[in-house]
Amino acid sequence: MNKLLLDVLEGKKVDRPPIWLMRQAGRYMPEYMDVRKNISFLELCKTPELAAKVTHKPVDILGVDAAILFSDILIPVEPMGVKLDFNPAPVISNPVRNRDDAEKLTIIDPYIDVPFVIDTVKLLVRDLDVPLIGFSGAPFTLACYMVEGGGSKNFIHIKKMMHTDPKTYGILMEKLTKSTINYLQAQIDGGCPVVQIFDTWAGILSPCEYAEKVFPYVDLLINSLKNAHIIYFAKDSATFYKHIKDLKCSGIGVDWKIDLEDADSFLGRGKFVLQGNLDPVALFTDKETIKKMASLIVEKGKQLKGHIFNLGHGILPETPVENVKYLVDLVKNG
Ligand code: CP3
Repeated sequence: MNKLLLDVLEGKKVDRPPIWLMRQAGRYMPEYMDVRKNISFLELCKTPELAAKVTHKPVDILGVDAAILFSDILIPVEPMGVKLDFNPAPVISNPVRNRDDAEKLTIIDPYIDVPFVIDTVKLLVRDLDVPLIGFSGAPFTLACYMVEGGGSKNFIHIKKMMHTDPKTYGILMEKLTKSTINYLQAQIDGGCPVVQIFDTWAGILSPCEYAEKVFPYVDLLINSLKNAHIIYFAKDSATFYKHIKDLKCSGIGVDWKIDLEDADSFLGRGKFVLQGNLDPVALFTDKETIKKMASLIVEKGKQLKGHIFNLGHGILPETPVENVKYLVDLVKNG
C-alpha cells in the first residue's frame, strides 16, 4: 500500500511529495473516452463497476499516488430536488430562485439517495493500492449551480439572492451543508481516508461576503466530519486567506496565482499541508518548460509543513497525455 499521501497529511517527513491531479480521470484520456463512448456521463457516475474502473485508470496509466472517486460535485444535489443534465457542462432546468423553491428541497440520506456512490467507494477500497480521495462541492459552489441553473459568467442570481433574500439563501445553504455532511461522512465511512471539498466559485465573492455568507457553512461542514483528513480547495481565494486560515482542516488546495511560500505565510506558517499549484496550462508546453515550472514548485514545497503536488485546478480536456505522464514521473523520480 502506497501511503505517501496519508503520511504527509499526518505530518510525517517524506522523501518526495505525493502527486495526484484534479480531474485526473477525464476527457483528455483516450481510455476514459473509450468507456464514455457507450454511456452518458450521469449513467457512468451511477454505475459502480464502471465508475470504479474509470477511477482506477489514472493510477494504472499515470502512476499517481492517490485515486479520486469518479463522480461529480452535482451528483448529490439531484436527489435534493433539481433536474440535472450534462452537455458536457452541467445544466439544471428548474433552478432554485425563491423561498418556495428552497423550502421544497430535501436533505439527502446518501444510503438511500446515492447508494451507487457508496458502492463505488466500497469496490475501490477493496483493491486500490493507493488512498482513495472522496469529495464534494462546498455548499456555496453547489448553491451557485442550483441558483444559476448551470455555469455562469456573472453569477447575478446567486449574488442577488444572497443580498436581497438572505432568508432563502440561508435555507438553501443550510440544506446543502446538511446534505454535504451526510454525503461526505458516508464516503468516509465507506473507506475514504481523505476527502476534498471543492469551492470552485468562492472566488467570485468579496472577502467580506466570503466571511459572512460562505465561511460559516464550510466551517460547520468541516467541524462535523469525523475520521478523515480534509482538504479544502477554493479557487481564486488568496485574498480570503485571512478567513480560510481559521478552518480546521489538514490541507488547503492552492491555485497558481499565489506562490506556495506566500500562501503558507498568509495561512499561518506551518499550519496546513499545502496542495498544488502548477497551472494546468503548463501541461500544454514542452517537457523542458514543464520541468522548469514543476521543479520550482517541488523546491518551494520542501519549505512547507507538508506538500502534495497537484495542479492549481483540474486538467483541461485537450491536455497531451504524454506531458501528464512526464509530470508524474518527474515528481516521483526527479
Ligand atoms: O477529479 C477527478 O478525476 C474526479 C472526477 C470529478 C469530475 N468532476 C468529473 C467530471 C470531479 C472531482 C469533479 C468536480 C467538479 N465538477 C467540479 C469541481 C472542480 C472544478 O473543476 O472546479 C466542478 C465545478 C464540476 C462541475 C462540472 N462537471 C463541470 C463544469 C463540467 C463540464 C466541464 C468539464 O470541465 O468537463 C462537469 C462534467 C464532468 N465532471 C466531466 C468529468 C469527467 C466531463 C463529462 C464528460 O465525460 O463529458
